Amino acid sequence: MAYAKAEPFLARLYNGLLRPQKINILGFECAGEVEAVGKDVTRFSAGDQVFASAGFTFGCYAEYICLPEDESPDHACVSAKPANLTYEEAAAVPIGGITAVRFLRKANIQPGQKVLIYGASGSVGTYAVQLARHYGAEVTGVCSTSNLELVNRWGPIR
Ligand SMILES: NC(=O)c1ccc[n+]([C@@H]2O[C@H](COP(=O)([O-])OP(=O)(O)OC[C@H]3O[C@@H](n4cnc5c(N)ncnc54)[C@H](OP(=O)(O)O)[C@@H]3O)[C@@H](O)[C@H]2O)c1
Repeated sequence: MAYAKAEPFLARLYNGLLRPQKINILGFECAGEVEAVGKDVTRFSAGDQVFASAGFTFGCYAEYICLPEDESPDHACVSAKPANLTYEEAAAVPIGGITAVRFLRKANIQPGQKVLIYGASGSVGTYAVQLARHYGAEVTGVCSTSNLELVNRWGPIR
């Protein structure tokens, strides 16, 4: 509730009190084909299929976006799209996935540790459950009964 009340005011402080000053095109995450690369780019070529976060510069709802090859301080980052994901599926990964991986790395999970993911069926929790299992943890997930089947698809979860 506090988040819902504070959000418009904080957004205006950041992006302009009366009208948007820094961010004119919304969109935090996207997927698509690389149209062209700068002369110093080594990891990507025109035609590559990628998915990306534009970070706090936003702009992913545009038809084209220019992103840095390596992660920027604004958290923009680009990765090759796995062949078994559609563009739609890949575009849904960055926000929840990046949030989950950052926090789980900070937790420095060791194999055999017990990890509780509160909100296991959500955008962040979806990745947090799978990453914690990847790090070898014994995962307990909390979600609604209606989402138990979804969360259990990712392996043995208590
Ligand atoms: N998405 C992001 O990148 C991001 C970034 C920074 C911070 N956050 C913060 O991380 C939190 C989760 O974000 P999200 O995007 O993953 O949200 P979400 O997709 O809406 O998922 C919310 C999760 O919380 C569970 N939940 C909802 N109400 C609950 C309750 N009363 N008791 C226990 N569990 C409850 C939901 O379970 P059921 O649906 O199964 O009920 C679901 O697993 C939020 O506080 C958000 O502000 C998110």
